Amino acid sequence: ALSPTGCPVSPEAAEFDPFDAPYQLDPAEALRWFREQEPVFYSPKLDYWVVSRYEDVKAVFRDNVTFSPSIALEKLTPAPPEATKILEGYGFAMRRTMVNEDEPDHMERRRLLMDAFLPENLEKHEAWVRELVRDYMDRFIDKGHADLVGEMFREIPMTVALRFLGVPNEDAKELRKFSVAHTLNTWGRPSPEQQLQIAEDVGQFWQTAQTILDHMCADPSGEGWMYDSIRMHNRHPDIVPESYLRSMMMAILVAAHETTAFATTNAFRTLLSNRESWNDICENPALIPSAIEECLRAAGSVVAWRRIATEDTQLRGKTIPKGGKLLIVQASANRDPRHFENPDEFDIYRHNSAEHFTFGYGAHQCMGKNIARMEMRIILDEFVRRLPHIDLVEDQSFE
Ligand code: HEM
Repeated sequence: ALSPTGCPVSPEAAEFDPFDAPYQLDPAEALRWFREQEPVFYSPKLDYWVVSRYEDVKAVFRDNVTFSPSIALEKLTPAPPEATKILEGYGFAMRRTMVNEDEPDHMERRRLLMDAFLPENLEKHEAWVRELVRDYMDRFIDKGHADLVGEMFREIPMTVALRFLGVPNEDAKELRKFSVAHTLNTWGRPSPEQQLQIAEDVGQFWQTAQTILDHMCADPSGEGWMYDSIRMHNRHPDIVPESYLRSMMMAILVAAHETTAFATTNAFRTLLSNRESWNDICENPALIPSAIEECLRAAGSVVAWRRIATEDTQLRGKTIPKGGKLLIVQASANRDPRHFENPDEFDIYRHNSAEHFTFGYGAHQCMGKNIARMEMRIILDEFVRRLPHIDLVEDQSFE
């Protein structure tokens, strides 16, 4: 096989398939050979250039002009025409939002809309987030067992996001009905039937989000980031256009939900499988913030991200042609021994855990990172105080 630049593809690169079990189970491990031998390679099965080393992932994230994020949310498995028809029926007209927007539009908008995400402005949310967490724990704490993902970790990030946006309670109930499988939709290989179901869900989600936004626009005096955005739209309609508001109403919930739910899930699984670390944070909860960074490094919930080359360019000696798509694998960078000493060891005392790329890097770095961190910190804090003796159900632990 040849790459698009006419270079021969190594047998390892020709074989690589991110849908195979090894990558699905442990992407960093599946890319170990490549990190050492062929850190940037063309994958014919995926038609992407795969980037596996810390330094190279950073270089791609840093240059969002040569490496445009416009494909960040493109479906890896294209929708069949029937699904597109369903979406059209719902008037679905999702625009680029923030994460897949090019400069200079992206930065202008990000600056106008950043305030609510700053740590000093998040403090006021801590008390109610803690109350919410306690309330969820109260529901199962006397039972002796719980499906933490289903009963709690999937619920809280959605509730927090809706309240952060300022969506009124009644409307929030409507929106919660749509548990769209976004990871499957964007990154997976949904079957034709699943594609149709997803299209229905996305279409309904889109319409409901629109109706709620209309309510909010009718009286934009409320509190919350969506109201901030509406007010910015009224002041700077050129920078924050209406089409953007509609798309963002939906996109931000997607950005905030599964990412945080699965990061929390992975953190619990990792900490409880490394009992000494769990015991340490129980004894000294001040360690929780650094333990969270190590969990995000070792078992983050976003394992890879995407960019597209806007011109012919070089990366670690390989020529990436204009239009070449890149899969930048954060999970692999996070375990690069050139940056993290003994990267396969889980170590909550590691000095540079927070340099992981799970939230991306550079101009587009996750705006919600401190919201996610706050949720994880409060959840862990409540668990180590109230349930330090919890354990994973036998076959749920992992090696
Ligand atoms: C962007 C991960 C939670 C809102 C991103 C990006 C990643 C990411 C990888 C792209 C970064 C890049 O291109 O450099 C995560 C993870 C989360 C999380 C792992 C949880 C553990 C949240 C939450 C919110 C949020 C809770 C909002 C409430 C956003 C927004 C962007 C973004 C608005 C686009 C920023 C931009 O393009 O300028 N996130 N995210 N995220 N995230 Fe998150």
